[in-house]
Amino acid sequence: MASLFLSHSSEDRSVVDDVRRRLADEGFDAVFLDYDPDQGIPAGRNWEAELYSALRRADAVLFVATEPSVDSKWCFAEIALARSTGKPVFPVRMSGAVTHSLLNDVQWVDVAAEGDLGYARLWAAMRDRGVDPSRSFDWDSKRSPYPGLAAYGPADAAVFFGRSDLVGDLLNRVEARRRQQSGPFLSIVGPSGSGKSSVVRAGLVPQLLRRDDWVVVDPFNPGPRPVSALARALAVARSGSPNDRVAIERRLRADPAEVAELMKDLTVGRGGATAVLLVVDQAEQLLRPEDAGGSDHAEFMNILLSTPHKDPNVQVVCTLRSEFLGSMARDPDLAALVREPIVVGPLPRSRFPEVIEGPAHRAGIRFDPGLVQRMVEETGAGEALPLLGYALQQLHQQRRPDGLITGETYLALGGVEGALRQRADEVQEALRSAGHGEAIIPALLRLVAVDEHDEPLGRAVAVETFSEAQRHVVDAFVEARLLSTDSAGGSAVARVAHETLFWGVAADS
Ligand SMILES: Nc1ncnc2c1ncn2[C@@H]1O[C@H](COP(=O)(O)OP(=O)(O)O)[C@@H](O)[C@H]1O
Ligand SMILES: [Mg+2]
Repeated sequence: MASLFLSHSSEDRSVVDDVRRRLADEGFDAVFLDYDPDQGIPAGRNWEAELYSALRRADAVLFVATEPSVDSKWCFAEIALARSTGKPVFPVRMSGAVTHSLLNDVQWVDVAAEGDLGYARLWAAMRDRGVDPSRSFDWDSKRSPYPGLAAYGPADAAVFFGRSDLVGDLLNRVEARRRQQSGPFLSIVGPSGSGKSSVVRAGLVPQLLRRDDWVVVDPFNPGPRPVSALARALAVARSGSPNDRVAIERRLRADPAEVAELMKDLTVGRGGATAVLLVVDQAEQLLRPEDAGGSDHAEFMNILLSTPHKDPNVQVVCTLRSEFLGSMARDPDLAALVREPIVVGPLPRSRFPEVIEGPAHRAGIRFDPGLVQRMVEETGAGEALPLLGYALQQLHQQRRPDGLITGETYLALGGVEGALRQRADEVQEALRSAGHGEAIIPALLRLVAVDEHDEPLGRAVAVETFSEAQRHVVDAFVEARLLSTDSAGGSAVARVAHETLFWGVAADS
């Protein structure tokens, strides 16, 4: 949703309510101060800071022009501030011949004279200026705008920057495959930490989700039990809850070809030509059959290979770490998944300012002058993206109440390259002084496996299987966001937030 700050007078409540309703119908979100300065400023509130922050969150300002609002000194301040920060301002004339001295040089929309036609002109003018709800995503401002070591997910689409070209390319590729009926498998291949999971989860998937002719099954990691993971994702796609997982799993195991039926079911009531996308994230996990303690991987591949190859409305996208491309291509079954790889390189340095400032803008936070530039310079090439992400997440947590992130905070954190290492050291230190030092290494080792080329692979481990001492370690690392937990089939599992952590450990030892 694109958001607009409504500059208005509190005397125009019913007019403003109507504008708000019309905005909502067009997909726009209206931003306000949560009090009305015309009614007096509550004690202890910093009007100016709050106004700045509300304006920063908005993509543009809509001025509801009436006799009271053109005389309001608050509206005057809001418009002045918006214009000085380069936000587009759209004046909408609601009555008579009102004008505003700060807005003589911009195009007005005359709703008083033109009614609905005036609104139609307004939407067109906003789209012309790039304020377009169909091009922006809704964002829950209670979330951190920086996910840290974790991949960006669908809920982060609004704060996902830097990969617009790749997302556009992916969209074209899946649509083209669908038109040309060229088989279901597309793979995204790149080094660990290059942003493969993020570009799919926060780029491709949210874009497809808002098209009427696509159904997207939530991306899943195959993990040690890929058939269960797939069944769970299909259950959620079908009913919004994982309750049917067991029944679906049974169907898939009894007959792999059932997957076609299950996917078709998802399009019921959606019109004839709806396509279904399945996303297998971290497909390298499929290369570790010994983890499964059985034939689950072979069974999973049977199921994937039974997706109807001749049906253009079934598409499967996998992400894969590039080190594993060779092993994948050598495997007679898995090779099918990587027949059409798209390579994801490291995010170019020229996009770093955007990935730092874009989310900040959306969340209404600012950096000390020069700090962004400094962070860009201090972020290495290649595998640095997770480090940058972690530093940003920590900086956001330590922002000042007015939303400013200072150079001192950045220094104290240890900079882009040092933040993660420093935090990991602090956590270990705290665990040692609490008497849990002995449990650190054994607990962490359980979360990593290595493949035949000594490449580390994260593994998910059920939290309940850690000893009590190890549980302290897991909790402390989760608290520091170095490990993440989620629940798979009811029981909580822990995993390393990102493989980047292994490099830190490897460098230490
Ligand atoms: N476009 C981006 N902008 C900023 N950070 C990103 C971007 N893409 C990924 N990241 C960060 O980089 C790290 C690795 O991303 P992830 O998607 O998990 O990569 P991969 O799946 O290739 O290992 C994470 O910390 C993530 O938050
Ligand atoms: Mg990934």
